[in-house]
Amino acid sequence: MSQPFPNAVVASNETSGTVRIRTANVSDVEGLSSYFTGLSPTSRNKRFMGARADSSAVAAECLAKAGHPDHFTLLAEFTLEGQRTIIGETRYAYDAAARSGDFAISVTDVFQRRGVGLQMMAAMERHASNLGHDMIAAETARTNAEMRGLARKAGFEDTGLGDWQPVHFAKRLSR
Ligand SMILES: CC(C)(COP(=O)(O)OP(=O)(O)OC[C@H]1O[C@@H](n2cnc3c(N)ncnc32)[C@H](O)[C@@H]1OP(=O)(O)O)[C@@H](O)C(=O)NCCC(=O)NCCS
Repeated sequence: MSQPFPNAVVASNETSGTVRIRTANVSDVEGLSSYFTGLSPTSRNKRFMGARADSSAVAAECLAKAGHPDHFTLLAEFTLEGQRTIIGETRYAYDAAARSGDFAISVTDVFQRRGVGLQMMAAMERHASNLGHDMIAAETARTNAEMRGLARKAGFEDTGLGDWQPVHFAKRLSR
């Protein structure tokens, strides 16, 4: 069953739409697939660090482990006049050997720079911390200013390290 995050209504606009963050489940494959299809080519390339055309396969992959205790996908949903649309997603997976969670995130283009990404990061951290995880780390392209900016704003240390292309960032979670 999907789980809403308390206090996760992150925005409303003049037409009284609201944004809510919740965990995804297998019934979200179609919605998530449409969401990925609707991303601009630039955002999609950044999200997957390269081109991926098969949105429905990607959505199914994201949700295949929905019931697994160490994996989850969060969705940001915009509701207007009863109509719900996915406008953001965060996929999280815990690596027990590395004792660290890894994540990927995107927000649909028209909703970017409105605080949705930051709220999804906060919800992901809460969820991971509740699962007993201490550390989250990820990599993004060195040129991805928005992801590096978002990570820094969320309190991640951007080490600037990595090969010529990706950079690594990490955060120790507090309880
Ligand atoms: C990265 C991404 C998820 C950010 O989501 P968002 O909802 O736009 O982020 P927010 O509005 O919460 O922004 C939070 C902070 O991130 C930083 N940020 C966001 N967009 C930025 C941009 N274009 N340039 C520089 N910094 C940016 C800023 O510090 C911002 O705070 P501010 O608006 O107060 O300055 C979004 O840009 C996205 O989906 N990009 C394409 C996919 C992607 O690159 N994913 C990362 C790889 S997994």
